[in-house]
Amino acid sequence: MPPAPANIPQHVAIIMDGNGRWAKQRGLPRIEGHRRGVEAARTAIDATRDLGIRYLTLYAFSAENWQRPPDEVSALMKLLELFLRRETRTLLKNGIRLHTIGHIEELPAGPRQELTHAIAATRHFTDWHLVLALNYGSRTEVADAACAFAAAVHAGRERADDASWATFSRYLYTAGLPDPDLLIRTSGELRLSNFLLWQLAYAELYVTPVLWPDFTRQDFFEAVAEYQGRERRFGRVSV
Ligand code: FPP
Repeated sequence: MPPAPANIPQHVAIIMDGNGRWAKQRGLPRIEGHRRGVEAARTAIDATRDLGIRYLTLYAFSAENWQRPPDEVSALMKLLELFLRRETRTLLKNGIRLHTIGHIEELPAGPRQELTHAIAATRHFTDWHLVLALNYGSRTEVADAACAFAAAVHAGRERADDASWATFSRYLYTAGLPDPDLLIRTSGELRLSNFLLWQLAYAELYVTPVLWPDFTRQDFFEAVAEYQGRERRFGRVSV
């Protein structure tokens, strides 16, 4: 059953974890877990829009993931390229704008070209947003923002003695996107893994033992229903 339509989060972010374990449990190569993980990502994208959640951010490849075996990295890049080639049509059909956060200029040419194409083709959409975190690391993002802010001060566009967090947020990769209301992490690990450290300041956290390739539309609904039952106080007391 889908959750009640009231108090739907505006932005859900997901750490899609457990592909490797899913494959290992079945005696399959890790890449098979990632392939099934792409299908789970498609399911989550559909469920997000069906529930009226306007922003979905998926942690698809971290800056640390380059340290995986080279054949796994190149298989992940190939999967990303294929996903984008097939998914762009769906994004266009459903009016979903694609964004990325992370250093995508360091990705191989294949997925980079697909990204450039999909971002340009969907940039006029305003209602629905899919954000892919690719070659993303939150600490690097904050350091990059500090450099960009310092450059703006140097150029006279900002004042060093007047830097609120709201001003600083405009220099993050996520500038213009609302902060996530709900973070879902699959496979039971209780970590943020260098994901959106600044933006998740007041997000509700939901961790499920379900491995990402097994994460269904119903699992997504359950996460949202749990969010709906939480009281968000933002540091204030209950009313
Ligand atoms: C974590 O599982 C998953 C990743 C590092 C990659 C996530 C990528 C996908 C789901 C596929 C690509 C998605 C899109 C939308 C293109 P893991 O390998 O760390 O699992 P483990 O912790 O069980 O080893």
